[in-house]
Amino acid sequence: MVSASERFSSTESALRDTPSAFSEYPVTVLLVDDQSVVGESVRQMLEDDDKIDFHYCHDPARAVPMAEAIAPTVILQDLVMPQIDGLELLRLFRANPNTCEIPLIMLSARDEPEIKAAAFAIGANDYLIKLPDRIELVARIRYHSRAYNNLQARSDAVIAQTYAQQLEQTLQQLQTTQAQLIQTEKLSGLGQMVAGVAHEINNPINFVVGNLKYVTGYVQELIELVQIYQEDYPEHTPRVQNHLDAMDLEFLVEDLPKTLNSMAVGTDRLNDIVLALRNFSRLDQAETQTADVHAGIDSTLLLLNHRIKKQGVEIIKQYGDLPQIECYPAQLNQVFMNILSNAIDALAEVMETQKQHITIASQLKKSRWVEISIQDNGPGISAENMEKLFDSFFTTKPVGKGTGLGLSIAQQIIERHNGTIEAFSEKEKGTKFVICLPIEQ
Ligand SMILES: Nc1ncnc2c1ncn2[C@@H]1O[C@H](COP(=O)(O)OP(=O)(O)OP(=O)(O)O)[C@@H](O)[C@H]1O
Ligand SMILES: [Mg+2]
Repeated sequence: MVSASERFSSTESALRDTPSAFSEYPVTVLLVDDQSVVGESVRQMLEDDDKIDFHYCHDPARAVPMAEAIAPTVILQDLVMPQIDGLELLRLFRANPNTCEIPLIMLSARDEPEIKAAAFAIGANDYLIKLPDRIELVARIRYHSRAYNNLQARSDAVIAQTYAQQLEQTLQQLQTTQAQLIQTEKLSGLGQMVAGVAHEINNPINFVVGNLKYVTGYVQELIELVQIYQEDYPEHTPRVQNHLDAMDLEFLVEDLPKTLNSMAVGTDRLNDIVLALRNFSRLDQAETQTADVHAGIDSTLLLLNHRIKKQGVEIIKQYGDLPQIECYPAQLNQVFMNILSNAIDALAEVMETQKQHITIASQLKKSRWVEISIQDNGPGISAENMEKLFDSFFTTKPVGKGTGLGLSIAQQIIERHNGTIEAFSEKEKGTKFVICLPIEQ
């Protein structure tokens, strides 16, 4: 059996001994009461407790700004005050965003249930008849302060979580922007170089093409002249006869035009190459254009030709009948470049052991889409790496060789075209990228 006095003392000690539960929270009390004698009594009740920071406001007109300034964890408020109706002051506390959540205990001499109900209806959290017992007052102050602190902590956690999410988003954006910047830099560097080379070869080609016409005419006239000489002077001097014996005039006359013709074919080819280089390097226009996807792929292959030849990769083209599509041509060429150079890189790993090929196929899909697939018979990609394939900076290549941006940029470009890009791969069998693009944007 526990005696009444023991029970009491155990309650007292429980109140003293619950620091872990309560007093770790800061407790700041604001009392609003026009009677300074009440202010003094409450101060005395709380003054033993050094964990409670007590503030008193005797002028209800200053109560809200004071609460804003000291940010109490609980407000004690008188109900009947001459200057202002207590319920009105309560409304003011609740209407202010800085004080609306602070627990408010009504401290009143009035005990009518209707008044209590009105106070609760407006937003009071508790109601005590003054002057309350010290123990009860402290218990309630702590109880409400703790609830308020928990509420704050929860909303702080929510805010912290929101910040963390925002931070993560910003970080991701930053990474994408960084990737784009690096790639744009690479792209415009490559584009400018290609444009520069195209320009430089273009001038000498023009000399050759322009003069070849005249050379052909001159040669024709010289051959005619020789023929006239031969007709008019069939008897040759020994010097002319010696020279004629030493050379094969008949063969020369027959072969010279053919030689000139093949030179013309060569310069035409050079012209095509310059055109392809220019096509590739069309440093991007802000507007979309209609362009031939196959021309884009071909000009990209041309740029990669030395690697394709050196490695001995066979390119198998299975081009379908495609209309021109609305696109940013240089950007699409960049996609083809990124995918094809990955395929060539991958094939380099198997070049010792097998015949390497890249199959490029295209077809019209549902009359509004074109599908382009680029497939290699390289080593393939593991399931684990497939998941990270399009991530910025994901690379399996040694430092200095790969930045891990090729496919993430390709994906961004395809998305900008409202298209899709997918990868399929089987270990040891090879990898296939399938791009779908709308014909019209
Ligand atoms: N055809 C392919 N066959 C095998 N692996 C591939 C193929 N294409 C891409 N990969 C893998 O995907 C990774 C990422 O490719 P991505 O083009 O994004 O970057 P990268 O080629 O490593 O570097 P970067 O293109 O920036 O120079 C590559 O490192 C490679 O491991
Ligand atoms: Mg790459």
